[in-house]
Amino acid sequence: MSLWPGAQLPDLAGKTAIVTGANSGIGYYTALELARAGADVVLACRNPEKGEAAVARINAEAPGRARFGQLDLADFAAVHEFAGRFKEAHGALDILINNAGVMAPPVRRTTAQGFELQFGVNFLGHFLITALLLTPLMSAKAPRVVQVSSVAHRRGHIAFSDLQSERRYRRWKAYEQSKLAMLIFALELQRRSDAGGWGLLSLAAHPGIAATELFANGPGADSPMARLTRLGAPFIRQSAAAGAWPLILAATAPDAAPGAYYGPEGLLEFRGPPSIAKARPKARDPEVGAHLWDVAEMLTGEALKPAPQPRRAIRRDDPSTLAGCMAGPDPAGPAPLVTPPPAQTWADALPASHAHGR
Ligand SMILES: NC(=O)c1ccc[n+]([C@@H]2O[C@H](COP(=O)([O-])OP(=O)(O)OC[C@H]3O[C@@H](n4cnc5c(N)ncnc54)[C@H](OP(=O)(O)O)[C@@H]3O)[C@@H](O)[C@H]2O)c1
Repeated sequence: MSLWPGAQLPDLAGKTAIVTGANSGIGYYTALELARAGADVVLACRNPEKGEAAVARINAEAPGRARFGQLDLADFAAVHEFAGRFKEAHGALDILINNAGVMAPPVRRTTAQGFELQFGVNFLGHFLITALLLTPLMSAKAPRVVQVSSVAHRRGHIAFSDLQSERRYRRWKAYEQSKLAMLIFALELQRRSDAGGWGLLSLAAHPGIAATELFANGPGADSPMARLTRLGAPFIRQSAAAGAWPLILAATAPDAAPGAYYGPEGLLEFRGPPSIAKARPKARDPEVGAHLWDVAEMLTGEALKPAPQPRRAIRRDDPSTLAGCMAGPDPAGPAPLVTPPPAQTWADALPASHAHGR
């Protein structure tokens, strides 16, 4: 299936979506199209002024569909606050698009918790928000999570011995690592959902090369790489609106395959109509996926797995329980309440090879 501007999206009325970093660039156009298709969209942005301005622009085209939610992915406390507010206000989350990102700041910067900014915002912040929103996701009928990667993942390497670029900061290497981590995360999430029966569709997408604020916010609008991209723009770059389509396809395509990765279909996947993209084999390695997941759980302090089922007291004489069926009603009167052994958790149902961090 190939979608392009003007194509008909499925009707998203009644669905709730979150798009991180939706005040500009491809996140904005993704949120706009989801809202136009009828979804209620939360624009999860760190800057209230920019976020509210984007909400107003979207609501002018799709009245009442967009709202702002404050989220700074560079601070785990803020991520917890955002997730808490969302859970208070909503029952289910149908679509989570982990789009926000920062690229190649010239000097090494860190998050509130001291992680290298690109690894911390692009990957760890999104790992944490996904973990905290897993319950609302699993309350939706057909939940989807989309991680935004990049063609830069191809040159990426997960440097487990120096994930935070403490020994040496190479800004492009750190960006490539964060974008490879996002693709690995998408594929590992699908593996875990399949193994544990979580019912998630986990997907990834990249925009090719799109004209957004990414250069200005990172290496600088006058950096050599930004100038080079501007020079080759007519051949290698597309608009931010066009760059959003692989994300929109991942979020809505009725025939999306579990773990699919979308990107532009043109030369080197830089531009063009959205289609299936190529993930490098290193992104598909399940051992690396499992290890990165363990590390992310450790660094965020949050296990990404379904919450244990609540304990439920049962009565021996309750015919709806196995004990009740076998024993039948007790003529001596109701039996005392008994507490069952702790309910089996979703994680207990995972094969040992997937039961990490327990
Ligand atoms: N443009 C491309 O050619 C390209 C290519 C490959 C992949 N990508 C990926 O596409 C995604 C979107 O980027 P874009 O190109 O649309 O660039 P953009 O216009 O700069 O948008 C990035 C968004 O992320 C937000 N953000 C940055 N740090 C944040 C934080 N700590 N907490 C919350 N939000 C934060 C920004 O908010 P502020 O406005 O407040 O800074 C902005 O809304 C990124 O993940 C990027 O890696 C882009």
